[in-house]
Amino acid sequence: MKLFSGSSNRPLAEKVAKNLNLELGQLEIHVFPDGEKRVRVIDRVVEEDCVVVQPTSMPADSNYMELFFIIDALKRSGAGKITAVIPYLGYQRQDHIFRDGEAVSLEVVVETLQSTGVSKIITFDLHSIKIPELFKIQLTHLSALPLFAEKIGSFGFRDSDFVLISPDMGGIRRTKEVSELKRGMPFAVINKDRDLATGEVEAVDLEGNVEGKTAIIIDDMISTGKTIVEASKLLLKEGAKRVFVFATHPVFSEDAREVLENSPVEKIIVCDTIDVPQEKRFPKLEIISVAGMIAKAIAK
Ligand code: R5P
Repeated sequence: MKLFSGSSNRPLAEKVAKNLNLELGQLEIHVFPDGEKRVRVIDRVVEEDCVVVQPTSMPADSNYMELFFIIDALKRSGAGKITAVIPYLGYQRQDHIFRDGEAVSLEVVVETLQSTGVSKIITFDLHSIKIPELFKIQLTHLSALPLFAEKIGSFGFRDSDFVLISPDMGGIRRTKEVSELKRGMPFAVINKDRDLATGEVEAVDLEGNVEGKTAIIIDDMISTGKTIVEASKLLLKEGAKRVFVFATHPVFSEDAREVLENSPVEKIIVCDTIDVPQEKRFPKLEIISVAGMIAKAIAK
């Protein structure tokens, strides 16, 4: 088997390679002055099973195109089965029509991806449970939630000090799952409103009791950080002692670093499904790795 990395998260691909006792294969990815890319496979891959690691986070379009070209280059070079590890699947929040006249961007992306001849996808914590239905090829949908449950256990507090929080209605399933992993840890739900035109977020109200507790928000991703900030303000207003956050994907768009750093949240734990460059890191951020889980899924 040969393992390759696109350019969106090489540190993760290197960790996966280390877990599998492999060296990363050689690819040449040249960016022309106009931003177009030329991809070339240097290793011999004839009849080899090949795996490509490439989350399609920002810039999503460019990272998708690069992934399509890598798969195409592998196929033309005679590769056998090709697996794409896309720990963060870009455009996953545009998985249905929210308002008349919109494109279903995720469906377009998935159809294009499948047309490249890729055989299998490995991904993490998709935004909705309906998304796997869009795929006609094999999809392995992994979750970081068990890692989060384990981490909560390492904080050294009693389970009864915590209450898990879903920051919106869409996150209830994830929060319930962590609650089950933590032997029925109580959870509360925030009712969130997002203006689809401006992206502004309002944490409207809270269903559940957080008085005197450490509130742990569980989310699939942090993009602008607005959901987290609004949720944490509401939780503190409702009497929570402190707020921690667990989110699988650190999308960190716009000025998320400043927003999160200046928020009342004490600790933010994310995964390395997306590479977080040094300039986007801050003291209360902790990154846990999903490389081991990916390596196991590849080796299966
Ligand atoms: C929303 O449904 C998602 O689960 C996240 O809560 C949301 O995408 C986070 O975005 P932002 O950080 O921009 O509020």
